[in-house]
Amino acid sequence: MSRSAHPAGPRHADVLPEGHYSAPATDLNELDPKVWSRTVARDADGALTVGGIEVARLAEEFGTPAYFIDESDFRARCRAWSDAFGADADVFYAGKAFLSRAVVRWLREEGLNLDVCSGGELATALDAGMPAENIAFHGNNKTVAEIERAVDAGVGRIVLDSFQEIVRVSHIAQRRGVRQRVQIRVTVGVEAHTHEFIATAHEDQKFGIALADGQAAEAVRRALTLDGLELIGIHSHIGSQIFDMAGFEVSARRVVQLLAEIRDEHGVELPEIDLGGGLGIAYTSEDDPSEPHEIAKALSDIVTRECESAGLRTPRISVEPGRAIVGPTAFTLYEVGTIKPLEGLRTYVSVDGGMSDNIRTALYDAEYSVALVSRTSEAEPMLVRVVGKHCESGDIVVKDAFLPSDLAPGDLIAVPATGAYCRSMASNYNHALRPPVVAVRDGQARVIVRRETEDDLLRLDVG
Ligand code: LLP
Repeated sequence: MSRSAHPAGPRHADVLPEGHYSAPATDLNELDPKVWSRTVARDADGALTVGGIEVARLAEEFGTPAYFIDESDFRARCRAWSDAFGADADVFYAGKAFLSRAVVRWLREEGLNLDVCSGGELATALDAGMPAENIAFHGNNKTVAEIERAVDAGVGRIVLDSFQEIVRVSHIAQRRGVRQRVQIRVTVGVEAHTHEFIATAHEDQKFGIALADGQAAEAVRRALTLDGLELIGIHSHIGSQIFDMAGFEVSARRVVQLLAEIRDEHGVELPEIDLGGGLGIAYTSEDDPSEPHEIAKALSDIVTRECESAGLRTPRISVEPGRAIVGPTAFTLYEVGTIKPLEGLRTYVSVDGGMSDNIRTALYDAEYSVALVSRTSEAEPMLVRVVGKHCESGDIVVKDAFLPSDLAPGDLIAVPATGAYCRSMASNYNHALRPPVVAVRDGQARVIVRRETEDDLLRLDVG
């Protein structure tokens, strides 16, 4: 999903496709600040530190594999997003990227709102004290029980995703004698990819209601007439790990066009638009993500311009970054186990985790970086594939990378930029125990999600 080129390798250049792999451009001991969280550094002995704590100490105390999240970096990114969008906009952190009670508290303290998309995420948010009015509830198939819970809690908005859901939420709210604030999620006909976006006439996906064939306008008609609903705006989310702002611009333009049509037909100017999440991060040095202030400026310029030309008041904008906030703030620490050089091919480096703690490589062909972090090394680079310990050959953590050729069992290696969609998509495949998430800040480390135990597994198995 990232647009990184394949890295390169001198060792086996004779058998690898020519031009495909070339020598790594940088010193393997260097840590590219684009892919590592902000407090990561190497100490005088060459060991990686985060929040001032050395990885060997972290490994000893918390074990491996484990995710280490750089709390001050997470908070700084929250502030960068809310400062960039300012008082006239709302930033909703997308909890699906990674959610825990500590994260909810950080979000509250940094003034962010929260997007949840399941009963479980809603429960976590409410339990950790996120005010319900700061919660947006998403999902293409919310159950009746989930909708009831969200309405009862008083969530700030439910994002309606289908005609049936418009009726469902209306009934549930009416039965309770409340008016639920809602947005309608539309599909704007922009299919966003990492490299490009393709305008499509018809939508072929499960989310949202299509703009193109008038369905979205019909959904608005129904939402405006049904009791129990207060339609506050239109929502659009075009995809994930996107670098090109053009897709967001088309999306913003089409959403504003719909607002103008709504004004013309119903005499109502909806006060809000939500442009979703999806902004890309750097997984490797090849990736060049935009900064929040650039994104905020691009989006607000286009919305302001389009509203001016349509004679509309500029609506309040909201955005829902998940990956762009949490992704770069964490790395996964592994211990190297078996090392298997395949002559003329590459060296397979097995670690003590794998697809159960990072499914993204197998699922999306995602690219990651990796570094030896327990020490530095001046040894020649070797082309490696970092693989897990699962019974599956697709169990790959980092497909193509370079590590020093003196790598040995017991070394610690780390994969950066694993804050988003790694722990949240982790599984128990092969009865793996899902790793802990440890928050590190100012020389202190504390577990915010503990490691699973065999007892946890056996407790679920009721025999
Ligand atoms: N808002 C909505 C309505 C979404 O569906 C999503 C992500 C977001 C916001 C946050 O997107 P972000 O800023 O994190 O890209 N598992 C995939 C990503 C799935 C994203 C689903 N929706 C991955 O690992 O790349």
